Amino acid sequence: MIYLVDFGSQVTHLISRRVKSLGASVKIISPKDAVSLSEKQKPAGIILSGGPASVYEENAPTIDPSIFNLGIPVLGICYGLQLMVKLLGGKVVSGKKEYGPATLKLKVKSEKLKVAKDLPQRFTVWMSHGDEVVSLPSGFEIIGSTEHVRVGFVVDKKRKIYGVQFHPEVDHTEFGDEVLKNFIDICEAKKIKKIEINIEEIEEEIKKIAGDQYVLGAVSGGVDSTVSAVLTAKAIGNKFVPIYIDNGLMREGTKDHVKKIFAHIGINVDIVNAQEETLKKLKGVIDPEKKRKIIGNLYIELFEREMTKLIKSGKRVGFLMQGTIYSDVIESKGTKNSAKIKSHHNVGGLPKNMKLQLIEPVRSFYKDEVREIGRRLGLPDDFIHQQPFPGPGYAVRIRGEVTEERIENEKIADKIVMDELKNAGVLNKVFQSFPVLSGAESTSVKGDGRNFGEVVALRIIESKDIMTSTWARLPYDLLQKISSRIVNEVPGVSRVVYDITTKPPATIEWE
Ligand code: XMP
Repeated sequence: MIYLVDFGSQVTHLISRRVKSLGASVKIISPKDAVSLSEKQKPAGIILSGGPASVYEENAPTIDPSIFNLGIPVLGICYGLQLMVKLLGGKVVSGKKEYGPATLKLKVKSEKLKVAKDLPQRFTVWMSHGDEVVSLPSGFEIIGSTEHVRVGFVVDKKRKIYGVQFHPEVDHTEFGDEVLKNFIDICEAKKIKKIEINIEEIEEEIKKIAGDQYVLGAVSGGVDSTVSAVLTAKAIGNKFVPIYIDNGLMREGTKDHVKKIFAHIGINVDIVNAQEETLKKLKGVIDPEKKRKIIGNLYIELFEREMTKLIKSGKRVGFLMQGTIYSDVIESKGTKNSAKIKSHHNVGGLPKNMKLQLIEPVRSFYKDEVREIGRRLGLPDDFIHQQPFPGPGYAVRIRGEVTEERIENEKIADKIVMDELKNAGVLNKVFQSFPVLSGAESTSVKGDGRNFGEVVALRIIESKDIMTSTWARLPYDLLQKISSRIVNEVPGVSRVVYDITTKPPATIEWE
């Protein structure tokens, strides 16, 4: 068993997932319990997670330094490394900040050191830190650096303490699995059998929670809510009532897509038209968190109206099924020490006094796992690979006020992006693609006249589990075509820019 001490990283859960997939069992524990639990249970190894704090901040989470004297191998990741250095007598400063990709150069031959086994001399790692280790405690040796960070990968061979400034757990770090596997091998952690996702168990759980009550289902035609809907329908049959709220903020054709996919899986779906109501509530609102809250509140209000109708017809209704996945949860509220990034409309954006209780069958899974469940449930392949689309839809892709006219413009631009990617045969290869009405303005010359119009930002990204992403390296000619079409065909647009920011630091959506 490996103990994973949680300092509030967005990716603590991801570290645990990776460690498990590499064959070791893992338990997430809080820093204050770390020493007492480790003394009692003697885990094979201890991983100190990253976290949003700075080690010198007041109230920054810390750990009893005797953790390093227990004779148990320790791996510190990002904040975990910095804290370890500070507690053992080294120095951390608010130094060079580095977010996104960097090249780590190994300073040792990989075969010379167990923790570096199978690592090439150079590989891409993902960074996300504002502080930097500038001097190491005695006993430590630097075995890897990047252009900006000297202390990229460190080892104290004698005490079996290791530290990485980069994030080995994220999908975009090359050889991240090897780093974690080497640590697990050093710990000699007992191997466990790979834990398969147990679909029957999920269905049993839904049945147990719902009891004999009806469950309303918030469905959008996307992978997460459809997979959740199939699981719920399998669990409770026709006591499940899926509803699609048409708020006018979804992609063109979504309503028909929802009808089609639910016809395919053989479940009836109700459609509720809420276009006018949504637009009215969003009038004059420019703050993205407010937009999400308004949409989240209205969405619950609409389901409560449906609940009242069913109750009037003599049915007992107590639950609302949502397709929330783990990345929604972690960004909305995360764990005890983690920072709130944005309140996803279906988590942090919900009203406090809801009448319906939530059932979220895929809440503890990542996107790629939800896709895997969908595949096993027999959902069509092209459906499983469709792009995620945010619940608040175009409202978070239109910076500033959401008006009917701007939604129309966003729809035209979005369709151009989709059509051109499809024509070029790359639509299914990218994770998400969309234009953002940025709210910024710039000059253009159309015909012979000077125009001042809106800047559209094109965001086309690659990702697997949403936790990290990079921009798609598309052919210039394709980008040119999209840009020309948007400027020519979308009213009021002056120019198109391509967003080449990775996540981290930028989130996928602009709002
Ligand atoms: P960010 O922008 O946080 O997005 O990197 C991560 C993923 O979540 C989607 N997203 C949302 N989905 N409600 C949702 O259901 C929301 O409020 C929301 N905000 C972002 C986003 O499209 C990406 O796939």
